[in-house]
Amino acid sequence: MNGGATQAATIGVIGDVHLFWDEEDITFFNGSGYDLLLFVGDLAGYIQVRGLRTARSLRKLDVPAMCIPGNHDGLHALQLGAEIAPRARRLRNAFCRGQERRCRSFDRALGHVEMVGYSHRRVALSGLPLNVVAGRPHSIGGKRLACERYLKSAYGVDSMETSIAMLKSLVDHCDEAPILFVAHNGPSGLGDRADSIWGCDFRRKEEDWGDRDLEEAVRYAKRSGRTVLATVAGHMHRETKSGKRRPGQVEKDGVLYVNAAEVPRHRKVNGSTRRHHVKLTLTANAATAADVWV
Ligand SMILES: [Fe+2]
Repeated sequence: MNGGATQAATIGVIGDVHLFWDEEDITFFNGSGYDLLLFVGDLAGYIQVRGLRTARSLRKLDVPAMCIPGNHDGLHALQLGAEIAPRARRLRNAFCRGQERRCRSFDRALGHVEMVGYSHRRVALSGLPLNVVAGRPHSIGGKRLACERYLKSAYGVDSMETSIAMLKSLVDHCDEAPILFVAHNGPSGLGDRADSIWGCDFRRKEEDWGDRDLEEAVRYAKRSGRTVLATVAGHMHRETKSGKRRPGQVEKDGVLYVNAAEVPRHRKVNGSTRRHHVKLTLTANAATAADVWV
C-alpha cells in the first residue's frame, strides 16, 4: 500500500457460468458499482444455442465487461468430445471446421461485452491504470492446445511454443502500469495434486493441469520488471470429481491467482437462490480477492 494516494479498483470475476445466469444477476451486477466485470469463459453447456442465449443476455449489463471464451464456447458437443479424447487428433481437426463462424456468432451475441483472448487492453479503473492481458482462448488445460486448427487459422498459433511467444509479445505491449492476466484455465506451476488450484482431478494420475504458456507469460512479465497483480481464471471446477475442494485463490511470488469456477454458481440455500462471483480489489501494488454469494 502507498498511503492515502492509493487508488482502488474493484472487479467482479464471474467463474464458469455454464448457463447459470438470469435477470437477477444482471440487476445485481448493474447495481454493484464494479469498475469492470470479467467472465472467465464457459458461458455455455453442451448446446451452443443455449450458450448463445446466455451470451446475448450479457448485453443487458451496463458495467464494462470482458469475456474470454472457454472450451465450451464456440465448440459443438462433438468437437468438445474429440478435444477431451486422448487420441483423436484427426477428429479434433475435422470438428474445428466452422469454429471461426461459431466464434463470430458468440462475439456478436456478446454485443458490447468484449470478447478477449490473445489480447491486451490498457484501461483505467477508478483512476487505477491497468494492463489487462487475456491468455489463450478455449483452453482445456493440460499439455496440448485445444482447438489447434482454429488457433492456427485465427491467431497463427500452432504449438505451445508459439502460444508462449504470442503471450510474451502481448506483455511487451504493456506500459508501466500493473498487469492483470485473465484466462479460461489457470497457469501451471501451482500444484500437481488433484485438488491443487488447477490440478487434474479426472484421471487416475494426479498432475498439474495448468497452462504452461500462461505460466511462462507471468514469469516473463515479472522478469521484465513489471508488476503482475493477479491472474484470474476458472475451468477447473473448485469441487473436484472426488468431492474435495480446491483453493479458490493462492498467492505465489507476489502474484494473486484466483480460480473463480464455483460450479454451479447458482445454489439453493433455504429455498432461495444464492449467486457466486469473486470480488477482486486492486491497488497499484496489491490485489485481494473475496468470494461473494448474493
Ligand atoms: Fe472449461
